[in-house]
Formats: sequence, C-alpha cells, structure tokens
Amino acid sequence: MYLFKQRVALQDHLEQVKKAGKRVGFVPTMGALHEGHISLIETARAAADVVVCSIFVNPTQFNDPKDFEKYPITINDDIIKLTAAGTDILFLPSVSEMYPEGVNGQHPHYDFGYVETVLEGAHRPNHFQGVGIIVHKLLDIVQPDSLFMGQKDFQQCMIIKRLLEITGIPTALHICPTLRETGGLAMSSRNMRLSPEQRQTAIQISRTLTEIKEKARLLPFPALKENARNQLQNAGFQVDYVEIADAGNLKLLETAIPGQMVALTAAKLGEIRLIDNMLI
Ligand code: PAF
Repeated sequence: MYLFKQRVALQDHLEQVKKAGKRVGFVPTMGALHEGHISLIETARAAADVVVCSIFVNPTQFNDPKDFEKYPITINDDIIKLTAAGTDILFLPSVSEMYPEGVNGQHPHYDFGYVETVLEGAHRPNHFQGVGIIVHKLLDIVQPDSLFMGQKDFQQCMIIKRLLEITGIPTALHICPTLRETGGLAMSSRNMRLSPEQRQTAIQISRTLTEIKEKARLLPFPALKENARNQLQNAGFQVDYVEIADAGNLKLLETAIPGQMVALTAAKLGEIRLIDNMLI
C-alpha cells in the first residue's frame, strides 16, 4: 500500500494510474477503522482497479470541540487493516495540507436545501457544511470514478449526493449497507469510546429501530415514536430525535407512505453520541 501525506504527490501518482486506464474507487474516512469501513474497501476493491482510502479527522465538521478532541485515533491499526484489505493507496494528510487557507478561513457555502435543516442538520449546526467542504476537497484531489459511503450515515449520504449534483463532479456514489455487531449495534468508530456497560446499553438503539420497522405499517407514528423515545430514555439515553421519514427526501412523516421509509435516531450515552437508521 502506498501512503501519501501530500496532495501533490498523490495527484501525480493518480495521474499515472488514470493514464493507464484504471478505474479509481475512493473510501473517505476519519480513521479508527472497523469492519464497516473494511466492507466499504472490499466493495470498492470489487468495483474498481485502484482503491484509495483517506484518513482525516476533519475539524470543520465537529460542532462540539470535545467530540473532536476525543475522536479516536488508531493510525497504526488502521494501516494494518487497510493493508490486509488490499487497499492500494492511503491518503493521510495533515490539517494544514487540507486547509492551507486555515480551518477558520474562507470556505464555500453549499446550498444543500431542506436535507440540511432537519435531524443531524438541526442538532449539529454547520456539520454538513464541514462535511461538504472536506469531501469536495478530497474529490478534487482524488477524482475517483466511484465513491463508497455507508448507509449508517444516511443523511450524510443524501448530502453527498446533493454535493455531487451542485458541483457537477462526475463521480458515482455507492451507498453500502450498515454493518452491525452481534446484538445489532451499528458499527461506528465512536463505539470504541463506550465502556462495556454502555456497549450493552447501546444495543437498545437497534432494538428500538427494529420495533419501529416492524410496527410502522400497523401503528400511528406519534405513538410509535413516543414509545421509542421512552425505551431509549429508560435505557439511559439522552435522546436527540427519533423520527420516521420518507427515504427519498427525508421529509418527516406522521403517517405511513406507500414507498420506502426510514427510521432514524440520535441519542447520547454519557458524552458519546450515537446515530443509527433502518429502512422500512
Ligand atoms: O463519515 C465520515 O467518516 C466523514 O464524515 C467523512 C465522509 C470522511 C468526511 O470527513
């Protein structure tokens, strides 16, 4: 696996790759890699000739400075996992490499529309602008044919779809299924920060979403959501939201629609904020 820390060196290398007619697949991450990330690498491996992964904990997408400071960093383990998974290139830039203009410098503002105003957008002001800024920068550098992202970050995937439309970047977005631990907890880098007891409690999130999924076409949504919120609170969570939305546009629903829906939640266990979703 090649490791690049400088964008120019990576771009020079990728120019040769593209001249040779090879298709590039890209998996952007913030590191602290788990099986969910590795499944993205494997999917990219099957679809592209050259797989590029980036590890960059992006300061502009953290609305909570404590969350940024405590974001797990496990670079050595990550390199071992990426090598074993057959990653061709790791891009590991510094903050100044990605933000030569400064983290607080002038950045573009993206019109993501309604999708940015609800759920994660409402609870994490500017989070999606930060995601847009960094993914745009990374796509400009890597110029991949395909981009692989996890359904675990359902709303983020919709934002990236919109980013591709706004910028006209001709990369195909592939959304890959959420991987779950035994018991159902969605794999997430933030799970590393959970104590064994908290990890046990965290299982309640997927249980609650599964119950919504099973009952969504039988029970009224207000009762279903109220019950879900109570279940999470009784387990010890501080709940940011439990919602059921149209999976196509994230419009929040009070009654079932014929098409695909999605149940989404965000809740905190102590300092650790977890999100999850399930298609209905
Ligand atoms: O999902 C993530 O890990 C991050 O939001 C991403 C897409 C790598 C941008 O920093």
